[in-house]
Amino acid sequence: MSTWISPSILAADFSRLGQEVEDVLNAGADSIHFDVMDNHYVPNLTIGPPVLSALRQFGISAPIDAHLMVSPADRLIGDFIEAGADYVSIHPGTTENLEASLLRIKSEGAKAGIVFNPDEELDLPDSLTEIVDLILIMSVYPGFGGQSFIDTSLDKVEAARTVINRCERPIRLQVDGGIKSSNIGEAAKAGADTFVAGTAIFGTSDYAATIKELKQKVAEANDA
Ligand code: DX5
Ligand code: ZN
Repeated sequence: MSTWISPSILAADFSRLGQEVEDVLNAGADSIHFDVMDNHYVPNLTIGPPVLSALRQFGISAPIDAHLMVSPADRLIGDFIEAGADYVSIHPGTTENLEASLLRIKSEGAKAGIVFNPDEELDLPDSLTEIVDLILIMSVYPGFGGQSFIDTSLDKVEAARTVINRCERPIRLQVDGGIKSSNIGEAAKAGADTFVAGTAIFGTSDYAATIKELKQKVAEANDA
């Protein structure tokens, strides 16, 4: 699976969101990570489907993955897909029937992601790996950007990589939270191929140089 650097727009300048997203894509980003928080599942409130649809209207055509930190997730799945999400990722604790919700994402035309928090076991029976297109390992507790990477999440990335390698299906392995140039290599070594970075990208002035450096670290880790 090709390496994807996915800037989290949570750290972007919201007053110029369309331009910010266009800028990171022109700077070499591969997809956009869209964090949705509801002040219920997580203690923070962010953005909803109209903002995603505004990005599409602005002309953004790159893949957008909607990371839903909302409970209940079901009611919003269709709205995000209609707004233009390519991937919709949900946390197991936000739905009464995980398998049904993941199947719903697929039947409505998007790719389905499943997310594991730092304190959650990696629970990936065949019934789920036959459905999901993306496994997201949280390397911080969800709710806020700008937190520090939790090292123990690397073991879970490795375990998820083992599960994915046993599958016939292409499944992206995404890591999210506190990723920066000093730790992205370790995440790549552990088996991640899709890297969310908010602060580490939008907090710098030269997006192209930052994304280039992140990609270089991944390439070095993969070559080692
Ligand atoms: C945390 C979010 C992350 C976060 C990443 O709840 O899911 O996507 O915004 O931001 P950084 O890269 O700043 O940790
Ligand atoms: Zn996220």
